[in-house]
Amino acid sequence: MEPNKSIIEISKLNKSFGENHVLKDFSMRLDSGESLVILGKSGSGKSVLIKCIIKLLEPDSGKIMVLDQDISKLDQDEMDLLRKDIGFLFQSNALYDSMTIRENLEFPLRRHWTKEERESLAEDAVIEALEDVGLAHTVDMMPIELSGGMRKRIALARTLILKPKLILYDEPTTGLDPITSREISELMISIQDKYKASSVIISHDMNCIQMTSNRVIALIEGRNYMADTYENLMKSTDPKVSEFFR
Ligand SMILES: Nc1ncnc2c1ncn2[C@@H]1O[C@H](COP(=O)(O)OP(=O)(O)OP(=O)(O)O)[C@@H](O)[C@H]1O
Ligand SMILES: [Mg+2]
Repeated sequence: MEPNKSIIEISKLNKSFGENHVLKDFSMRLDSGESLVILGKSGSGKSVLIKCIIKLLEPDSGKIMVLDQDISKLDQDEMDLLRKDIGFLFQSNALYDSMTIRENLEFPLRRHWTKEERESLAEDAVIEALEDVGLAHTVDMMPIELSGGMRKRIALARTLILKPKLILYDEPTTGLDPITSREISELMISIQDKYKASSVIISHDMNCIQMTSNRVIALIEGRNYMADTYENLMKSTDPKVSEFFR
């Protein structure tokens, strides 16, 4: 992909729920190949932001361009087509407990591939995605048979199956022990290398942020308060920023 091509461009995004003004003229840009972390306190609007990017929530005002498309102008079918290029790793993983790992991974293909494509290509795609996360041997297992860290990897494999151009991670390491968190962060880096995807990572796990980010946005009081590398943010003397590093 050409460098400095913008993958996401958000300008003056506003989103309120009643009196609660969550995002206030929030602007940001994600360039091709970048791993951008959104850092913010609980309740600061990180999940609201990610939901606006995939149009699960409608903004009150502002413009959101994703992969060169103004998403406010897309109808349901056009938005579905765009979502094919976007992998979303839910905090909860959102695996289907009654389906095998294979069926979980095939699930996104039902919507985006033809029957012929699925019959000829699905098995190889499932195995490749599972190999990417080191879990090819679990293909016939059920989610309940796996540990929390393994389930996170499976959820990640499911986002990879459609070879996304953009991956959105909502708290990828929350609830995992430090060693497993580190393994997930390493996996995110290797996936970034292999797929040349661009990523937005919501996190307050400082180790994960340090390992995976090219750039960090501190989302404070609804605004893009400060954007810089992890190392530079860490040196900031601004009290609202430095408190994240304590
Ligand atoms: N659908 C909704 N209806 C009403 N209020 C909402 C809705 N979704 C989010 N909010 C409010 O918006 C604010 C931001 O929520 P959000 O989920 O984005 O926080 P967050 O930064 O992701 O926090 P956390 O780190 O705890 O996940 C909160 O005050 C929340 O109550
Ligand atoms: Mg959240």
